[in-house]
Amino acid sequence: MHNTIEDHNRLEALKRFDESKAGVKGLVDAGITSIPSFFVHPSETLSDLKPTHHTPVQSIPVIDLSGFDSDRRGAIVDQMSRSARDFGFFQIINHGISPEILERTISAVKAFHELPAEAKAEFYGRPGGGEAGFSYSSNIDLYRSKAASWRDAISVRLGDFTEDRIPEICRGAVAEWDGEVVRLGEVLLELVGEGLGLCAGRFGDLSCLGARVMVGQYYPYCPQPDLTVGIASHADPGLLTLLLQNHIGGLQVKYGGVWLDVKPLPGAVLVNVGDLLQIMSNDEYKSVDHRVLANMNREPRVSTVVFLSPSKKEELYGPLPELISKDKPPLYRQFTFSEFIQKFLTKELDEKSLKKFFRI
Ligand code: OGA
Ligand code: NI
Repeated sequence: MHNTIEDHNRLEALKRFDESKAGVKGLVDAGITSIPSFFVHPSETLSDLKPTHHTPVQSIPVIDLSGFDSDRRGAIVDQMSRSARDFGFFQIINHGISPEILERTISAVKAFHELPAEAKAEFYGRPGGGEAGFSYSSNIDLYRSKAASWRDAISVRLGDFTEDRIPEICRGAVAEWDGEVVRLGEVLLELVGEGLGLCAGRFGDLSCLGARVMVGQYYPYCPQPDLTVGIASHADPGLLTLLLQNHIGGLQVKYGGVWLDVKPLPGAVLVNVGDLLQIMSNDEYKSVDHRVLANMNREPRVSTVVFLSPSKKEELYGPLPELISKDKPPLYRQFTFSEFIQKFLTKELDEKSLKKFFRI
């Protein structure tokens, strides 16, 4: 039976937190030493936080992108294709993006989150980034999820930097990062396409780089990191995700039933397969579950992800016809990207990924 008084108190606590518009960082700045109970995750999640292996059995593949447009292309396509099929995650080095740009991107996200609470409040909580395409929030699924997570985030619709819809403190760096994302994203979509035997430009023609959303995450110090998480286990929605992280660590990827730590590799760009790419590849590539542990370090963990998705929202997506045969029937039905994203926005983040909704 539901305890209505408890439910009522929980809802009041959620509202107070939400209406403070100060996020998790606000709680830490106020000096709390124990976390509010709505951040405490169910015992199944907490028992799964403990490492099952002390020495990692595997680590996320590192792919050297140098020579991708000449002699090494075949070898790179092979390695990327194997990584996308097996791990669904890989790290890219020698991608041609300068360390200064990577540094500026992370610093800009950090700088926004470290603005005074009053300066951030006006951007707080616009669903989906609102009309302006920029928002700051903590736990977008606060009222829907079973438990909240120890992080704050900004969400930015990329492209179109002419207006001042993005706060000045991060506008220049975000625009610069978007330029790099477009350049690297094009290369990556070609390489993963080749790894499926598709003709060149197949994903580009489907406008697969057209819609880009950046999420700039801030994971402050957590006084009780064994009671909550930084981001609950989930799979990403789009085609590919490009991720940068600072040196703190805490990202984990599920592989063969165990959680692998993704140790920060300076200068690397992490890439992972999203649900839409798994669906379009008819399960050749894997969109894998990942999560971030609550940060036990005094220094914040900062990361930024960009989700690459198609901009043609009313077109039909599903397993690509080239990949379907008598032996390989389609595993998913067709759907519009609008329908797909609607499902994403209404599901709880710690529910399993989107794939299952479209499975035949
Ligand atoms: C995400 C995500 C990981 C991170 O935003 O989808 O998985 O390192 N983030 O912040
Ligand atoms: Ni993710």
